[in-house]
Amino acid sequence: MSATPTPADAVVYLPSEDFVKNAHVSGMAAYQALCQEAETDYQAYWGRLAKELITWKTPFTQVLDDSQAPFFKWFADGTLNASYNCLDRNIERGLGDKTALIFEADGGEVTKTSYRDLLAKTCQIANGLKSIGIGKGDRVIIYISMSIDGVAAMQACARIGAIHSVVFGGFSAQSVRDRVQDTGAKAIITADQQVRGGKHLPLKAIVDEALTLGGCESVQHVLVVKRTGAELPMTAGRDLWMSDVIANQPTVCEPEWVEAEHPLFLLYTSGSTGKPKGVQHSTGGYLLHAALTTKWTFDLKADDVFWCTADIGWVTGHSYITYGPLSLGGTEIVFEGVPTYPDAGRFWKMIQDHKVSIFYTAPTAIRSLIKAAEANAAVHPKSYDLSSLRLLGSVGEPINPAAWEWYYREVGGNRCPIVDTFWQTETGGHMITPLPGVTPMVPGSCTLPFPGIQAAIVDETGKDVPNGQGGILVVKKPWPSMIRTIWGDPDRFVKSYYPADFQGKYYLAGDGAIRDEKTGYFTITGRIDDVLNVSGHRMGTMEIESALVSCTELVAEAAVVGRPDDTTGEAICAFVVLKRSRPEGDEAKAIAKQLRDHVAKEIGPIAKPKDIRFGENLPKTRSGKIMRRLLRSLAKGEAITQDTSTLENPAILTQLDQTY
Ligand code: PRX
Repeated sequence: MSATPTPADAVVYLPSEDFVKNAHVSGMAAYQALCQEAETDYQAYWGRLAKELITWKTPFTQVLDDSQAPFFKWFADGTLNASYNCLDRNIERGLGDKTALIFEADGGEVTKTSYRDLLAKTCQIANGLKSIGIGKGDRVIIYISMSIDGVAAMQACARIGAIHSVVFGGFSAQSVRDRVQDTGAKAIITADQQVRGGKHLPLKAIVDEALTLGGCESVQHVLVVKRTGAELPMTAGRDLWMSDVIANQPTVCEPEWVEAEHPLFLLYTSGSTGKPKGVQHSTGGYLLHAALTTKWTFDLKADDVFWCTADIGWVTGHSYITYGPLSLGGTEIVFEGVPTYPDAGRFWKMIQDHKVSIFYTAPTAIRSLIKAAEANAAVHPKSYDLSSLRLLGSVGEPINPAAWEWYYREVGGNRCPIVDTFWQTETGGHMITPLPGVTPMVPGSCTLPFPGIQAAIVDETGKDVPNGQGGILVVKKPWPSMIRTIWGDPDRFVKSYYPADFQGKYYLAGDGAIRDEKTGYFTITGRIDDVLNVSGHRMGTMEIESALVSCTELVAEAAVVGRPDDTTGEAICAFVVLKRSRPEGDEAKAIAKQLRDHVAKEIGPIAKPKDIRFGENLPKTRSGKIMRRLLRSLAKGEAITQDTSTLENPAILTQLDQTY
């Protein structure tokens, strides 16, 4: 991947005059006026937007309560319902017959669902959940692939005030178990199977396995959506077919009006330790930012067809499939499959078929589709009619300028602005991003903070660093959609995000960043903690190390680092010491495969190390500390420039050269 240039020496791309003229936020002066409004009276700014974008059952009287900082409360005495805001409200505005979801199955079948139908389905599921004893505050795990049922299940939980926790369909039984245990979920919503890339893959069978692993006593019911009709064992009393549960349920369900701070969902994400953290989001503040960023960053209008390719198992799918676009009455695509099936032209064909106007995807997908297009003209974007597109987005990892330019040129036809949106599971919505009718774009830079977001770059003591100097990315003021706490672990929340280094005042994003000297544009330089970003999926090195060493019959010790990868951004590289002698050749290959399968079983296939290297030991200092910087150099294949004089066992460096 080419190095990210600093914006000062980069080419600048401007949105067209026409785009600027028609955009929700039109021109730099409008952006600056919004920033100024937030600067002048922060609370009045967010209060105004919360009234404009959200329909409240009981209006709030206070915008921000910071009396227990960093446990901030937003709009605390207001009540609302997220599902009412996403569904009923649109029908009341005359959009009942408008298509809410265009579902395209893996095999290409298309199902369109109107707002009226989505509300009816949501209400039936909501009533079904109530009928099995689920109510306000109960946790429900949703382990399902991309589907109308998945979106409706999330909306149904929101409707009755149950807290959903969606687990990505690629996670293992062990990961499902961990999340069930941590949330204390009363029910799991899943499907018999999922269909991806022409293959039928298990879901319910993994739930069954998870529930045998222990610690899941809280689960009373498993609701199973029929996707493929596969034969399944159903545990009597526990397992129910969703179709039976909702069969006689009314299609209306009075929303549960919840306080703005009521948790809307928990979503597990990786941090610096071995245990994923349950990020807790609120209802009011979260929904506000999901709606507002969909409006301003994606410039969503009534006749747009919006497509966010993320899975509902990640935060991007929450904010920009389930909540943001629906809250604004948009029409969006829900895609079950993968970008390379039946061929790598799938995305372009779907844009053509559905006349998609706004397309939001991850750099890894773009990079892999570039490779495919270069190898085969038939799957090149120019073989499709992409003239419906007017705006492109990127998310999840840094986009290298070469990929940005290809996306701009070949997909966007040199006409569509690209919004490179920086944000995180914890932030709930976009934090630093171009606004498409405002910001001159520089490939590789996420440009400027969203209006009202006080992003800054500081040194280890919390002092601002001058532009042009890299540092630590922080957010100086709270914002409505911020993480509220880590479920069940408030201390970890404070330590992770409001550390004492900054007197507990700034939100620590966990990324490094640099601002351009002239423009002040932000460029993200990557995580500063032990978190890896592989294909836009976030993983902790410790989590993968724990998975490796849990293979107790084989592994004595393991250390995991990231290295740059042309397609996936970063790749996982594991250095492993076995309990037996160091293997070589075919034997090493076989053990490497065994270890990869083990990690897939513990966490999920996305966590499989790409490189595995075996040593009789790991490079350690005399005090026994693993020299991770050195491992990073080894993983990258770069010359060792670090001082190795403190290295206890220099001879093992040559052993660690061989990758399996
Ligand atoms: O390192 C940043 C990277 O992804 C991390 C957040 O990952 P996650 O919580 O899984 O959320 C991903 C989807 C929002 C960040 O700490 N990241 C995300 N977007 C960008 C990015 N890095 C560079 N540029 C981006 N646009």
